[in-house]
Amino acid sequence: MALTLGIETSCDETSVALVEDGRRVVSNVIHSQVDLHQDFGGVVPELAARDHLERLPGLVELAFEKAGASPDDVGLIAVTRGPGLAGCLLVGVGVAEGLSASWSRPLTGVNHLWGHIYAAMLARPDLEPPLLGLVVSGAHSDLVRMPEHGRFEVIGRTRDDAAGEAFDKAARMLGLGYPGGPALDRLARTGDPRRQPLPKPSLPGLEFSFSGLKTALLYRIRDLGHAITPRDKADLAAAFERSVVEALMDKLDEALGERSVSEVVVAGGVAANTLLRRRAAEVVAGRARLTLPTLELCTDNAAMIAAAGFFANSPPHHVGRSATSAQRTRPGGESHTSIEVDPSLGWD
Ligand code: KG4
Ligand code: ZN
Repeated sequence: MALTLGIETSCDETSVALVEDGRRVVSNVIHSQVDLHQDFGGVVPELAARDHLERLPGLVELAFEKAGASPDDVGLIAVTRGPGLAGCLLVGVGVAEGLSASWSRPLTGVNHLWGHIYAAMLARPDLEPPLLGLVVSGAHSDLVRMPEHGRFEVIGRTRDDAAGEAFDKAARMLGLGYPGGPALDRLARTGDPRRQPLPKPSLPGLEFSFSGLKTALLYRIRDLGHAITPRDKADLAAAFERSVVEALMDKLDEALGERSVSEVVVAGGVAANTLLRRRAAEVVAGRARLTLPTLELCTDNAAMIAAAGFFANSPPHHVGRSATSAQRTRPGGESHTSIEVDPSLGWD
């Protein structure tokens, strides 16, 4: 078995996965820190990093146990090197470097954003670039073209908040707590988006902006004051969700119209949203083939990191991305790989 061991610790999920040939998930264990951060209403970076450190060794063991595999089966170790929270990334990279040295296995640093796109390759093993991708997560709302493995061109991004961040803030305003996106999704299913309509953000070109919409929601909640009812909240959740999703769909539609492409991927945590999944299928229908990762592979996980590490690192898909890791030779002569963490890494 040629397995890639993936490690993901960029934010509030600790995850370890074993993936065969970059395409088949053999095991993918995920520990969410929701309980840890709930009382704070958001991720506390120091607590997140410490929790990753405490849990990671046990999760590595569990991933092997679930796969019925051993370190001998591992051909490559892939770890998220950015973007993400610095302290959290350092934990994953430190553990990955330790395993790489003690098992004598190659190590590659993976761009988390690439990982979200590669999650789609796990959902559909025959999926190949070129493709058009929409990555919507807690920190990004990016439209990208992927001409080949390991190469991405950003064609659209947000000017302010990311879609997931907008959902999280709206959820907080509606008293839904953290994590907001899934809670807002559930509440929106019971509401009517037409009863409390909110503006749909619209910028020229392929740019997104969600801060005006967020302010519109804030004012609406303020106007309703104490008289706000559970039904108002459900209607506002539905209206907010619709505005975000339609703004995303407008740009996806525009990008599809600009250049023909046969494959479209919508990925990232927000791709777990019920309305977004339905609308993306409608917008893409008849023009290209849409791939959405399964719900578990939309939000942060290590299987997508293993897949991205495999394809961006191995022949025939080698693309010379060795800049992500530096081969160093120690004075003693033995060589080891160290990974450079980059909390604000873009798509390159
Ligand atoms: O990709 P992800 O797990 O982490 C980042 O890389 O940021 O995305 C997390 C984001 C959060 O903002 C979360 O609220 C949002 O994805 N999210 C959702 C849903 N599930 C997760 N947003 C809307 N509807 C959902 N069902
Ligand atoms: Zn993510």
